[in-house]
Amino acid sequence: MTTQRQSIHGQWSSRWMYILAATGAAVGLGNIWKFPYLTGEHGGSAFVLVYLLCVALLGIPMMMAEVMLGRRGRQNPVNTMRTLAKEANTSRHWQLIGLAGTLAGVLILSYYSVIGGWTLAYAFRSGTGAFNGATAEQASSLFSQFVGEPLGVLGWHTLFMVMTMVVVARGVRYGLERAVKYLMPALFILLVVLVGYATTTGYFLEGLAFMFAPDFSKLTGTSMLAAMGQAFFSLSLGMGTIMIYGSYVPQEISIARTSIVIALADTLIAILAGIAIFPIVFANGLEPKAAGPGLIFETLPVAFAQMPGGHLIGVLFFVLLMVAAWTSSISLIEPAVTVLVENFGMTRLKASWLSGLTTWALGFGTIFSFNVWADYRLFQKNFFELLDFLTANIMLPLGGLFLAIFAGWLMAKEASQPEFAMRTTLGFQIWHLLIRYIAPVAMLMIFFVAVGLL
Ligand code: TRP
Repeated sequence: MTTQRQSIHGQWSSRWMYILAATGAAVGLGNIWKFPYLTGEHGGSAFVLVYLLCVALLGIPMMMAEVMLGRRGRQNPVNTMRTLAKEANTSRHWQLIGLAGTLAGVLILSYYSVIGGWTLAYAFRSGTGAFNGATAEQASSLFSQFVGEPLGVLGWHTLFMVMTMVVVARGVRYGLERAVKYLMPALFILLVVLVGYATTTGYFLEGLAFMFAPDFSKLTGTSMLAAMGQAFFSLSLGMGTIMIYGSYVPQEISIARTSIVIALADTLIAILAGIAIFPIVFANGLEPKAAGPGLIFETLPVAFAQMPGGHLIGVLFFVLLMVAAWTSSISLIEPAVTVLVENFGMTRLKASWLSGLTTWALGFGTIFSFNVWADYRLFQKNFFELLDFLTANIMLPLGGLFLAIFAGWLMAKEASQPEFAMRTTLGFQIWHLLIRYIAPVAMLMIFFVAVGLL
């Protein structure tokens, strides 16, 4: 049965390609933009420590569950969930979890791509010296001017969507694999160059201390939940990205080992991004805590403007951010494209056009949130903030909750255990315990705190 499905469904050409692609999906704006500013906001090291615990206890088991489901189903998330529900003798409505995840991917990409467009614009503007000599106020007003002008942002968003769809349209081997093969090493080299630069600022140790010297007085309930939610988003869990990437994984590859490698690589890159950014922030007398989401687009350009060679470092930094966002965008839309191909009989090209165009149009909402629609608010949030909230804080934790329940409670051990093919049963038992008890409770907590914050 599986061999027949494999013939229409793609497959990674090697273990290494799978690891690169999944790491590319995981490493994104979440690592380089969100992780450092959340670390700043929540006081540094205590947040980092909780984050690491969340990756180990929640992230890795959830990733293993999603890859396992995907590889056993070997289809898009909708059909995979339907097939596995049938195998588990339970309701076929579980396919709705696959559908909700697929939609969440499109919704996330609609704003992710707008921010991806900002990174393109900022790489370009750093290169042309737009920030030369800018003070903090000037950098902030340059940012508000930039996002305040819908047409310009629309152009960058369009370019970013086209870049994404060109890769997706070419399929697993010729699109996704080729892109990550070059982009991921480039991303890593850029990051190492930036960390190298950070060591020359004279504030490297301050940066390290901020991230690693433990200070538990700063640990609060909200910061712990923020760390949990961030671990989940950063590893691309809860919506079918990892499930679809898992469905392309050849049978002989170890799910546990690759999941650990991918989670560690994602975490390493988030931490390296912090190590690169904080010394630059401190060296320029800027505050990590106050910056918030503006850390990247308002604070860093000031630092780049003030330092020798900053203009080049600025270009490198925003290119890095763009590459990271690009390989994640691909993964956000891959489930939708495969649903259109496998359930509606479209060609991959047509499916890519249709899903890309829909996502692009939805992106208008985010673009307008910073200008013409800035005053339309619900629960004090503009369209972009609502969409971010709905997807990251509601849809992903709920998706994760249902997937954990399905993998831990409904699916027979006789079905899940052989997929993992671990050498000892102890490993499987630990996974089963974490996915049955820890993951659902954690997901429910993220969800309830989120709703309480509305
Ligand atoms: N993990 C990516 C980041 O850190 C974003 C991302 C890609 C994602 N695919 C996802 C988030 C699926 C949640 C679900 O930027």
